[in-house]
Amino acid sequence: MGLLLPILLSFLAALIGGLYLLGVFRQRRPGEPPLDKGLIPWLGHVLEFRRNTLKFLQRMKQKHGDVFTIQLGGFYVTFLQDPLSFGALVKESRDKLDFNKFAEHLVRRVFGYSAIENDHHILNVSSNRHLKGEGLEVMTQAMMSNLQNLMLHNMGSDQRAWREDSLFAYSYNIVFRAGYLSLYGNEAQESNLGEEKAKEQDRAESEALFYEFRKYDQLFPNLAYGVLTPRKKREADRLLAYFWNTLSVEKMRTKDNISRWVWDMQQAKTEAGMNDSMINRYMFVLLWASQGNTGPSAFWLLLFLMKHPEAMTAVKEEVDRVVKESGQEVRRGGPIVDLTREMLLKTPILDSAVEETLRLTAAPLLTRAVLQDMTLKMADGREYFIRQGDRMAVFPYIAVHIDPEIHPDPHSFKYDRFLNPDGTKKTEFYKAGKRVKYYTMPWGAGVSMCPGRFFATNELKQFVFLMLLYFDFELKNPDEKIPEIDFRRWGFGSMQPDRDVQFRYRLRY
Ligand code: HEM
Repeated sequence: MGLLLPILLSFLAALIGGLYLLGVFRQRRPGEPPLDKGLIPWLGHVLEFRRNTLKFLQRMKQKHGDVFTIQLGGFYVTFLQDPLSFGALVKESRDKLDFNKFAEHLVRRVFGYSAIENDHHILNVSSNRHLKGEGLEVMTQAMMSNLQNLMLHNMGSDQRAWREDSLFAYSYNIVFRAGYLSLYGNEAQESNLGEEKAKEQDRAESEALFYEFRKYDQLFPNLAYGVLTPRKKREADRLLAYFWNTLSVEKMRTKDNISRWVWDMQQAKTEAGMNDSMINRYMFVLLWASQGNTGPSAFWLLLFLMKHPEAMTAVKEEVDRVVKESGQEVRRGGPIVDLTREMLLKTPILDSAVEETLRLTAAPLLTRAVLQDMTLKMADGREYFIRQGDRMAVFPYIAVHIDPEIHPDPHSFKYDRFLNPDGTKKTEFYKAGKRVKYYTMPWGAGVSMCPGRFFATNELKQFVFLMLLYFDFELKNPDEKIPEIDFRRWGFGSMQPDRDVQFRYRLRY
C-alpha cells in the first residue's frame, strides 16, 4: 500500500498534466471570444477544418458570430471575420502579432528550409527594388519574351489547325513556365548554341520542371497539414531533392537573364553566411510562392471570359484599342507585338476582370502568432482579450469576397464590378453603411502582403493579351458549367478547379 499511493499519485499527476497539455481544461475567461474546443482533445476541429475550411468557418460564424476561438491541432486560433475590424489584425504591432514566427515554422516543416534572422528583411528589400517601379519593367519584358517563346514559337509554320487541350493544364503550364524562366533565367546562349537552340532548351527544361511541380502541388494540402501517407511522404521528399538540385545556385550560375529579384536574395543570403545547400532550399520556397498561384488564376480568368461573352467583347475591344494606340498592328508575318508596361497600365476593363477573378477564386488564410496578451479592438467598440501563445487568423473569402452586402450577387462573375460608371477603377464598397477598406484581399495584407502582386497582375494581363491577339479559342462544349473549387485547397492562395475543362485554340496568323 505504501508504494501504491505514490505510484497512483504520479500517474494522476501525469494524466492531469497530459490532459492540460491537450487543452482539456481551457475555459473561456471573461472578456474572451466564444471558445469552441471541439470534441477531440488537442485535435479539436482540425479534421472538419481540413475537410472543407470554407464550410466549417461558415458554420462557426453562424454559431458564434464574427469573432471566435477554436482549437486546431494543439493551437487555439481566434478568427476575426468582421471586415470593418481587419485593421486590428493587419496593423497591430509586430511585438504582439507576428507573421514571421508562423511562416518560419511552416517553411521548415513543409520545405525543409531554416530561416535566418533577417530573412524577411532580405525578401522585402529585393521585392521593393525589383517587383515594383523600374525593376518591374525589366521583369515584365522578360515575361513577355518567355511567353512569346512558349506560346508563339511555331508562328509562321502552318499550324493553323485547331488544337484541343485542357484549359487548366494549358494555362497553368504556360504561365508557370514563363514565370519560372523570367525569375530563374534562360539557357545561356553560348557561341556554339544558337538562339533558337537555347530557346528550345528553355521550353524543354521548363516543361520537365512543371511536370514535377504539379506532382508536388497536388501533394501540398496534405503535406501542409502533415497528413501524408508514408509512400506520399517519400514522393514529396524525392521531389524536394529534385527541386533543390534543379534550382541550385551552382546550376543557376550557368544561366543568362536571372532576375535581380532572385539574384539579390541569393547574394544577401550568402553574405549573411548561409550555405549553398540551404539557399537551394530557399530557391524552391520562392518558386512555390511565385509560381503556384498565377497559373490557376490565369485559368479562371480565361474561363470566366469565355463563359461571359459580354466580358470577352469588352476586354477584347480594350486590348485592340491599346495595341492600336501604341502604333502597332498584329499581322501575318509581321513583328510580334511589343507589349510594354505602359500599355498594361491603360486597361481598366481588364484590371476589373482580373480583380473580379481573384475575388471569386483567391482564398488565402492569413495567420499571425500572438506574442503577448493583447486586446482586440473591434470597429464597433467591442473588445476581446486574446492570449499569448494563441494564433489569430482572417479568412477574407467569407468575410469579404462573398459577402452579399459588400459585393451583391457575390457568386456571379461581373467583369465590371470594379469599374465606376465613368470607367475609372472602383474602390468604394460599403457594409452597414460604412466604407470597407479591405474590399478584396487576394494578396493578403500587412507585413505578409504578397510582394509579387504587381508582377502577378502583369503576368495575367500579358497572358490574356497574347491569347486574344494571336489565338482564336473557344470551349469545346459551349454549355460547359464552370467547375467547382477543389475544397481541399481553401486557405492556400489561388484556388484550383475540381475538374478540368476542354477547349480548342488555333493561331490566328
Ligand atoms: C495570382 C497570383 C498570386 C496570388 C493570389 C498570391 C497571393 C499571395 C498571398 C495571399 C500571400 C500572403 C500569404 C500569407 O499572408 O500567409 C503571398 C505571399 C507571397 N507571394 Fe504571392 N501571390 C501571387 C503571385 C506571386 C508572384 C508572381 C510572386 C513573385 C514574383 C509572389 C511572391 C510571394 C512571396 C515571396 C510571398 C511571401 C511574402 C512574405 O513572406 O512576406 N506571389 N502571395
